[in-house]
Amino acid sequence: MFILVNLKAYPCDPIEVATAAREVSEESGVRIAVSPQAADIARVAETGVETWAQHVDPNGHGSHTGSTLAEAVAEAGAEGTLINHSEKRLKLADIDGSVRAAERAGLETCVCANNPAQIGAAAALGPDSVAVEPPELIGGDVSVATADPDIVEDAVEAAESVDENVEVFCGAGISSGDDVEAAGDLGATGILLASGVAKADDPRAALEDLVEPL
Ligand code: G3P
Repeated sequence: MFILVNLKAYPCDPIEVATAAREVSEESGVRIAVSPQAADIARVAETGVETWAQHVDPNGHGSHTGSTLAEAVAEAGAEGTLINHSEKRLKLADIDGSVRAAERAGLETCVCANNPAQIGAAAALGPDSVAVEPPELIGGDVSVATADPDIVEDAVEAAESVDENVEVFCGAGISSGDDVEAAGDLGATGILLASGVAKADDPRAALEDLVEPL
């Protein structure tokens, strides 16, 4: 199971979370990555934790003011990137372009989507993984695996019908080891979560709880 902690734009200390994630990953053997703000990628990567960007744009080098360049986040130390997160939606052509840009830069790719139909479309673009996150459950207290288990199973089926090698992650409302275990039982091989760690009083304890059943 892969656990990706998305720090969004939360006012947490990215170094505290990254250090805790690296230590819990080393102690448990569970793969844990942290996805901070683009401006924090280099110092988060310096902690030794696997570091992901929250977004990259489709463009390469050139006249693209304000863009998040895949090559730049890779140079800063990112190993992967989210694309088309629910809070950073892109047009289909731009999702495709961002996947290609990330691949050129050597980044692992995870394309997010709202539902199984979109998961099928996302899988057709050839990312390394897709992630289903029902927007209405994001930031809430109820895990997607509990509130809407069918959406996870249907997403796994939709992705496999397009590309049996694509990994399927899920996210929204996940905050405990029981939630992670339930998601795994539904066929997810990775978890995206944010508030359960980024807003926790003790991020390390939250991470330890997440990996406890694994
Ligand atoms: O990228 C993960 C995120 O959208 C889920 O957020 O706060 O429900 O864990 P949260």
